[in-house]
Amino acid sequence: MAYTYDYYKRSADYIREVSGGFQPDMGIVLGTGLGEYDRNVENPIVIPYGDIPNFLVSTAPDHAGRLILGTIQGHKVCCMSGRFHSYEGYSFDELAAPVRVMKLLGIKKLILTNAAGAINTSYQAGDIMVIKDHIKLMGLSPLAGPNIPEFGKRFFDVGNMYDKDLRRIALDCAGTTSLRIHEGVYFFFAGPQYESPAEIRAARILGGDAAGMSTVTEALTAAHCGIPVLGLSVMTNMAAGVLDQPLTSEEVTETSLRVAGAFEKYFTEILRRIPCESC
Ligand code: HPA
Repeated sequence: MAYTYDYYKRSADYIREVSGGFQPDMGIVLGTGLGEYDRNVENPIVIPYGDIPNFLVSTAPDHAGRLILGTIQGHKVCCMSGRFHSYEGYSFDELAAPVRVMKLLGIKKLILTNAAGAINTSYQAGDIMVIKDHIKLMGLSPLAGPNIPEFGKRFFDVGNMYDKDLRRIALDCAGTTSLRIHEGVYFFFAGPQYESPAEIRAARILGGDAAGMSTVTEALTAAHCGIPVLGLSVMTNMAAGVLDQPLTSEEVTETSLRVAGAFEKYFTEILRRIPCESC
């Protein structure tokens, strides 16, 4: 399907209407590891994805599927509790919708969190990686199809997609947490199967530090419409083949629960240090 500006506007108009004109300045996508963080939103306005016209519905386990509008650390946020992945069956162009809708609502920054497997063998399960860049070797893009110039140019730069200033803040907050904080490259795999050990060895040679199944469509869509991104990955496991044991979603869940408290505190400190648009 060819999406139009008005297609996304319909979703944004609905959200604006039911939230009484709330205008967020920051978008946050809560992935595995920060799933419960939405309870920190003050004066929350909760909108189930299913109520929003032209929006997507999340099918992934542990992904709640609602937008929460409100305030955290002075930021007016639009929090996505539950995200969409290509492994759910969504095409890459469908996956442009959430960020485009948040752009129309007015966000000026986007924070993306996710769970990932550590490719870099100096990392450990439970560490955090601030995303410096990503590698997505498959040709698909959320921006394929007719360009919508209201969002951005047909051909666009992604050289500073993961914003330097936001990364600096996240790295500077390392001193406030017991978690080990790294900066590295996120290597996208479509899933839903975990990677083969040979794929992980190849990704390591190519410069990947962590493997994951999300985030890149959102970051690319944000880059197209000029929104700076901060990406944070929780290393929930060592990637395939690093350890002599099978990968399981139970391990991913267990590690994310183990670090959730510390990760929430670290995340809150980052939010506290990011300059506020409206205060
Ligand atoms: N690979 C891809 N995605 C993931 C992993 C992994 O090892 N762990 C958590 N999400």
